[in-house]
Amino acid sequence: MAGHDSILNYARSRYLWISVGLSAISLIAYLWHDPGGPPNGGTWLGYTLGTIGALLIVWLMFFGIRKRRYLNSAGTLRGWLSAHIYLGTALILIVLLHAGFQVGWNLHTFAFVLMLAVIFSGFFGVYTYLRYPALMTRNRDSATRDAMLEEIVDIDQNALALADGIDPKVHAIVLRSIERTRLGGGVWSQLRARDGSDKALNALQHAMEERKKHSPASSRSAMSTRSMPTLFFMVDFLARDVSDKQAEALRKLIDMITRKKGLATKVARDMQYQAIMEVWLYIHVPLSFALLAALIGHIVSSFFYW
Ligand code: HEM
Ligand code: HEM
Repeated sequence: MAGHDSILNYARSRYLWISVGLSAISLIAYLWHDPGGPPNGGTWLGYTLGTIGALLIVWLMFFGIRKRRYLNSAGTLRGWLSAHIYLGTALILIVLLHAGFQVGWNLHTFAFVLMLAVIFSGFFGVYTYLRYPALMTRNRDSATRDAMLEEIVDIDQNALALADGIDPKVHAIVLRSIERTRLGGGVWSQLRARDGSDKALNALQHAMEERKKHSPASSRSAMSTRSMPTLFFMVDFLARDVSDKQAEALRKLIDMITRKKGLATKVARDMQYQAIMEVWLYIHVPLSFALLAALIGHIVSSFFYW
């Protein structure tokens, strides 16, 4: 997980130490400072820490813009992200010291709670960034998602053509399974990605069983086949007569759809992983804007009611 170039120990954990330093200085100042009353946001130290906190929040919010501008220089971006994570986390302590640990049911605390929500969603984001890329690589097993999707389309077409030659009912089963496969779309549908292969497989297995039951050849050898290993049974069964050409096609169809099911499961999982890596940003980013609004309200109101 935490390789030598992880975002958490980027540049020998430079930003971790900067954050620890900033937190330590704030804490020492807080302990040393004697406000002559309960510590709070209205003392000179309170204002100082509040200003540091507010500047940090504005700076953290610029990350979205920076992210798009530095898209081509991954190294720089990793540095910014590393700083973002550590300085963002340091905010918890800095703001608590700013407020003198006074929290209540008011706008100030509302801003603080929003800030915590942004920060903790950020923790989740870091967790997914560290964990999911490896899971995705393992799941894909050296194929790309596009290659898998292409193969699925190929299999779908071939399966339809093959099913067409077997019988209209089988064709309908395959068609329905293709229609039921839902991959892609927005983040929310990616989280619920599914494919319709299972039902089709069941239906085809069922058709296969039916065929076996009604074929005179199988009732003839039913006794002897029961104890035979499946493979021998299949060879025997498929070699039997002309109508068994259809059975062979059916068998092939089952193989194709089994392969497709494997691929579709991988693609669906790949999309789910990626969706999980994106979905927390739907909390992180909007709440950071709400935080900015609440913060402006907090600052304005504390000047009015001071
Ligand atoms: C320029 C920046 C800031 C200024 C000028 C400022 C100002 C103040 C003042 C004057 C108070 C004391 C209010 C009182 O005791 O009634 C206060 C308290 C507080 N501030 Fe700030 N603040 C700033 C930044 C922040 C930030 C970034 C946060 C966190 C999101 C924050 C959260 C709080 C909280 C939770 C309290 C305690 C409220 C209470 O006593 O219930 N402040 N702030
Ligand atoms: C109040 C504090 C914070 C604010 C205002 C804030 C704000 C933001 C913003 C605006 C973005 C850009 C997202 C985008 O445009 O795609 C972002 C990304 C991110 N933030 Fe925060 N953040 C804060 C704290 C944190 C913390 C504490 C962590 C981790 C512990 C964190 C982790 C991340 C991550 C991993 C990204 C995504 C980077 C990427 O997509 O490449 N954030 N944050």
